[in-house]
Amino acid sequence: MSVQSKTAPEEAKTTNPKVLAFVEEAKKLFNPEQVVWCDGSKKEYQRMLKSLVDGGTALWLNPEKRPNSILVRSDPLDVARVEDQTYICSKSKDDAGPTNNWFDPAEMKATLTKLYDGAMAGRTMYVVPYSMGPVGSPIAGIGVMVTDSAYAVANMHIMTRVGDQVWKALGQSEDFVRGMHTVGYPLSTPATADVPWPCNKTKYISHFPETREIWSYGSGYGGNALLGKKCHALRIASVKARDEGWMAEHMLILKLTNPQGKVKFIAAAFPSACGKTNLAMLNPTVPGWKAETIGDDICWMKFGDDGRLYAINPETGFFGVAPGTSNESNVNAMKTLHANCIYSNVALTDDGDVWWEQMGTTPEHTVDWMRRSWTPSSGRPAAHPNARFTAPAAQCPVIAKEWEDPKGVPIDAILFGGRRASVVPLVTEAENWQQGTFLGAIMASEKTAAASGVKGDIRRDPMAMLPFCGYHMGDYFAHWLKMGEKGGAKMPKIFYVNWFRKNGDGKFMWPGYSENSRVLKWIFERCDGTAKAVDTPIGKLPAEGALDVSGLKVTPDDINELTTLDREGWKAELPLIKEHFATFGAKLPKALNAELASLEKRLG
Ligand code: OXD
Ligand code: MN
Repeated sequence: MSVQSKTAPEEAKTTNPKVLAFVEEAKKLFNPEQVVWCDGSKKEYQRMLKSLVDGGTALWLNPEKRPNSILVRSDPLDVARVEDQTYICSKSKDDAGPTNNWFDPAEMKATLTKLYDGAMAGRTMYVVPYSMGPVGSPIAGIGVMVTDSAYAVANMHIMTRVGDQVWKALGQSEDFVRGMHTVGYPLSTPATADVPWPCNKTKYISHFPETREIWSYGSGYGGNALLGKKCHALRIASVKARDEGWMAEHMLILKLTNPQGKVKFIAAAFPSACGKTNLAMLNPTVPGWKAETIGDDICWMKFGDDGRLYAINPETGFFGVAPGTSNESNVNAMKTLHANCIYSNVALTDDGDVWWEQMGTTPEHTVDWMRRSWTPSSGRPAAHPNARFTAPAAQCPVIAKEWEDPKGVPIDAILFGGRRASVVPLVTEAENWQQGTFLGAIMASEKTAAASGVKGDIRRDPMAMLPFCGYHMGDYFAHWLKMGEKGGAKMPKIFYVNWFRKNGDGKFMWPGYSENSRVLKWIFERCDGTAKAVDTPIGKLPAEGALDVSGLKVTPDDINELTTLDREGWKAELPLIKEHFATFGAKLPKALNAELASLEKRLG
């Protein structure tokens, strides 16, 4: 991992004094063997891959199967985002709120300064300038990350816009997020041997929202190490968005075109493992309708000159969960993966290709993610459940032509959703922005599947931001309401969807996947005021016959149940919502309590 190229540039690529001071401070702290200023070129990307292969971290996949793609296997103790070791270090504990781990910023910096001291000995410190969003877009934001991980650099190349154009866009501005990352495994003496996946069992993923800084220690994996993604684009950006009057959300963005060629843009927030990437890339089953992808995970929205909310996908790649991805669940993702990808913790087939659970035909033999021989009778998964692919978004066959438009795309509808076996209908339209914010705030997903309408173990995950909101969630709700007041009638319509209702036999009532296009069609037509809806205490539900179910093998009884208010179920939900709201104390906006009270009254 520490193999270096003699051609790598050591001299600074910018004269920005704040950047130079930041890099100098990092250099003093980490004491790396050398500093490399990344230029974001293809050559540099290839150099990173080569250094990962030469250092034993990665191997090349069979070029006839997956050209220019590598497989990386991490340390078994470093396989996912570590929410328990993720901190929001705001000056006041109250600003982090009840849903975040808080730490005093000065104390955290003191602790990390000790751990950072000499942490890059014998390694290269890469300086990575990146833009979240099209370079120079008024919605985009810039970050500078230092890291000793070539894996992180290569992933940042795919996931963000890295390169000299970022220095140009930044100029002498101070407005950039400072990210420091080390795997925490110094090569202290020339004799210290490196390991295939250096990391540290001590991990800190620390955010300093007031100073727009990220200090990450001990992990090389995913959101812990690719600082542009969750750390910058959600935790720090959510605070910046609150301060500056915009929105940084955990949402996919898709473009939907009807048979007449009319377009709407939809953003949708779902917690992890609820099919965000699948929805972002769906192939509609309704004849004549077309869906295209803008993004699959993060959405930044700002008001345009016309008073509407415009969104960009700040990323340039997909860091998707591999297991479960197949030609059936997401053929467009599978096509995106044909070449130029990084695979982490998937299985290796005997012909040098990748495999994971539910990908398709099970091979007779693979090498599993822990480098052990694996057969279907091994009794354990071949790929880690959080195995990932990092894939360039531009390779997606259904990427929309607007996906890099610096202006962003005007959002017509926002969807919230979770995995609920009971109670929550297939689709509900909020009466207005305030009620929509209420529906987002009470959003939940079942951890365990519930049979026969019995409630499972529910985790409330407001706006799918529970692990990603960089400040007090009560203030976050207030920010949503404030945005609604500002945007007024020009704000997107809000809908609450649920693809996961089950019947008495524990079977899904709705086929999901591509058939979700039928719900998208109703949403599109509601935005145009053409589809019919009925008023209920929780919002507007599709009127009989309004949902296009032609050719679908779902019984009329099931359709009826999916689109009818479960009054008793919602009544039983009320005390759970009250309990959830109580966690936010005095910071819960009064308007949300008023929404709850009015729902209670309407339910009778
Ligand atoms: C992700 C996540 O990786 O939400 O996108 O965990
Ligand atoms: Mn996500």
